[in-house]
Amino acid sequence: MKVRITDTYEDMSEAAAEFVIDQIRHKPNSVIGLAAGATPLLLYQKLGEACAAGTVNFARVRTFSLDEYIGLGPEHPQSFHFYFQHNLFDHVNIHEDHVLAPDGMAADVAAECARYGAAIEAVDGIDLMILGIGPNAHIGFNEPGPSFVPETHVVELSEATRAANARFFETPEDTPYWAISMGIRDIMFAQNILLLASGAGKTGALMQAVCGDITPEAPASVLQLHRNALVLADRSAAARLPEKYK
Ligand code: GLP
Repeated sequence: MKVRITDTYEDMSEAAAEFVIDQIRHKPNSVIGLAAGATPLLLYQKLGEACAAGTVNFARVRTFSLDEYIGLGPEHPQSFHFYFQHNLFDHVNIHEDHVLAPDGMAADVAAECARYGAAIEAVDGIDLMILGIGPNAHIGFNEPGPSFVPETHVVELSEATRAANARFFETPEDTPYWAISMGIRDIMFAQNILLLASGAGKTGALMQAVCGDITPEAPASVLQLHRNALVLADRSAAARLPEKYK
């Protein structure tokens, strides 16, 4: 795992955009895994700007969303479908058939997890997985627990995660209780992983991810075992990392 610390959120997002653009230039038909959340918003904006400027081309790129709330359809403003459509896909020249995501409205969620996991395997894995990190060190919606769940699965969201994400909903009760998430194997099989962390709310989680025990109680810690994982963090998220990372 490599760690790179930037002064600001803006710098972190710029470095992340360069990383993603390099990946697509190197392999124009890259398969990219996408995290939602506040952290990658400026990265996605910068990718849209780069596409408009002609410095990156999404024509052959395929994307896989990391996760989705159960019970929110694509038209729901807090669904991750909606998030990616408005924050990224509307601004890049991606082909709509190249956009893959779990269906949070599927009648049979177990079958939907199996379908989605098979779709990831069918493309021979993900070239670049973009991750955020939850305040409890979750990645995707892989919540802390007694064991890692390898495959795409249904998750009951922890109270901590529901509380953290309540800011996006009108009332806390509107926050979904369930989600579909890629599993740890889906994530760890990616060729490259880029984890973004910004802000003081992530200092503890980032410590666990970078130098804590490798444990399913801090899911992001498993990334220490990945051979091509890069953590990009701004100074405030990195505040508690040991000096050697700074
Ligand atoms: C969400 C998503 C994650 C995201 C994380 C952090 O619940 N499932 O994919 O990385 O929480 O979100 P934020 O960047 O808004 O802090």
